[in-house]
Amino acid sequence: MISIAIDGPAGAGKSTIAKAVAKQLEYIYVDTGALYRSIALNAINSGTNTDNEAEINELLNNTKVEIKFINGEQRVFLNSQDVSDKIRTTEVSMMASKVSAIATVRDFLLELQRGLARENNVIMDGRDIGTVVLPQAQVKIFLTASAQCRAKRRYKDYLAAGNTQESYEQILADIQQRDYNDSHRAVAPLKPAEDSVVVDTSDDTLEQSVEKIIAVVNSKIK
Ligand code: DC
Repeated sequence: MISIAIDGPAGAGKSTIAKAVAKQLEYIYVDTGALYRSIALNAINSGTNTDNEAEINELLNNTKVEIKFINGEQRVFLNSQDVSDKIRTTEVSMMASKVSAIATVRDFLLELQRGLARENNVIMDGRDIGTVVLPQAQVKIFLTASAQCRAKRRYKDYLAAGNTQESYEQILADIQQRDYNDSHRAVAPLKPAEDSVVVDTSDDTLEQSVEKIIAVVNSKIK
């Protein structure tokens, strides 16, 4: 099986680009952030104090996360309920950033991610795919863009979806906070794998970014 790992900060375009590449290559696209988000949603719903180890263990004992592919699209199930849409809020994003810093939470999700890569050709996006989850991946890409650029894109997406509640400044501040959390945590911090190719998408259109990634993949997989 072939694995392509795409890591990078929030809002670099990983999911949009990885989806497009997966379609071209006929691979399965796995969004691992959705797994952390599902646990975060469960933590919010259950009122778990995430600073308390016993409460985290209790939370994980009561959490079943599954991924299913419906019409080729990933859906994530929390305790048998499809939560794919519910996990896309700012509150869940912030909580996901928090719970993903906890080692037991990361261990809890590790085998699920590795199992998917054992059974399918995958393009998997996250923060530690090339460094921890799939260190043997044939292709590793670290996708990045400036924080301002990422905030601008997200702001445009929100406006297009009719969400006018969040200002550009607020989105930028959230992105900077998450970048800090994700790259400064002790366990599996966000950083490029030594053998990754760093791709900066700041000045690219989506099509240009997809082309760049396909070129990297073609150079690595003969
Ligand atoms: O990619 P995303 O925004 O959906 O990720 C949500 C949070 O989960 C993000 O703050 C970092 C964390 N995450 C992680 O630690 N490791 C991954 N492989 C994927 C996401």
